[in-house]
Amino acid sequence: MTVALFSPLTLRGLTLKNRIAVSPMCQYSSTNGFSNDWHLVHLGSRAVGGAGLIIIEATAVSPEGRITPDDLGIWHDEHVPGLQRLTAFMEAHGAVPGIQLAHAGRKASHSSPWKGGTVVAESQGGWPAVAPSPVPFGAEEPAPLELDLGGIEKVKADFRAATLRALEAGFRVIELHAAHGYLFHEFLSPLSNQRTDAYGGSFENRIRLLVEVVESTRQLLPADYPLLVRISATDWTEGGWTADDSVALAQVLKTKGVDLVDCSTGGNVPAASIPVGPNYQVPFAERIRREASIATGAVGLITSAADAEQIVATGQADLVLLGRELLRDPYFPLHAAEELGAEVEWPNQYVRAKPRRR
Ligand code: FNR
Repeated sequence: MTVALFSPLTLRGLTLKNRIAVSPMCQYSSTNGFSNDWHLVHLGSRAVGGAGLIIIEATAVSPEGRITPDDLGIWHDEHVPGLQRLTAFMEAHGAVPGIQLAHAGRKASHSSPWKGGTVVAESQGGWPAVAPSPVPFGAEEPAPLELDLGGIEKVKADFRAATLRALEAGFRVIELHAAHGYLFHEFLSPLSNQRTDAYGGSFENRIRLLVEVVESTRQLLPADYPLLVRISATDWTEGGWTADDSVALAQVLKTKGVDLVDCSTGGNVPAASIPVGPNYQVPFAERIRREASIATGAVGLITSAADAEQIVATGQADLVLLGRELLRDPYFPLHAAEELGAEVEWPNQYVRAKPRRR
């Protein structure tokens, strides 16, 4: 019996050993953007746990692009050696190391969740947030500064420099974060983009910044390195970004050399009404895969081996990304293999704990 979840996935010149990815998750555990022992143990455990791909947390391409002062960063060459340590460990234990490159846009300069998650004033070490338009995320938040064309060029340059550093650090997969109401998503959605220049208004104009960054990232990556883009496939709000827009965007991204669209939703407006439940975002991955003929990743409340298997086996998505379930259980892939009857290698150090087949 073949188990779809444990079949390899080839994207360009790279083969993942299975279809389970660690979804990018901020750890809010950095000082000045540097990685440390927390990241090594956290990511290392998930590599040992058997994930095929680990996409490390939203990693800021500039200090002003951080969600919080505690975010991981990649705006300095000095960030590279610490990241190298992470990629070397993940790779040595069979997980492909990927990185999510990010700019928080108007959601920048907040405190970490366990410090309240509120706006950090400049007097408290915060900084002015930038965005396509001076539209605040919530009514109680300050309006962000509108990026001028020079500011947009800086964002593009920051993503280029970050990509080169990510390659030097040993990442084999780059994911651009264009979801959850951060900078690229803010440009995509008419709810947050009210520009009247070449970066606002029409669909072509709203996707322009993301497409330009995709083009320059693709140019910098070796031909066999996959490029992923995470999108919010809908704003779940009248007048916002829609699933139709996502299909149209995915069709463009495919022509620009994107290999997989990672399909999340929401995050651009606080008041969206979202029908949260098991596998609730999977239909978006399925539709984009079918209508844009591009590989997709499904994410969001996928918590069981049976559901993950079903999603891949029925062609709803090529990859499943798990967030919180992999926080609860770093060994989810090893447990899922056991449950589904797939033969996978356990780390040598743990082989004596491997359940025996009857
Ligand atoms: C997240 N999520 C997230 N998403 C993203 O694109 N970049 C990020 O850095 C983060 N950070 C983050 C931190 C933490 C602690 C959590 C729980 C979540 C969202 C995450 O990747 C995933 O899309 C959602 O959690 C839904 O998947 P699960 O958790 O239901 O499997």
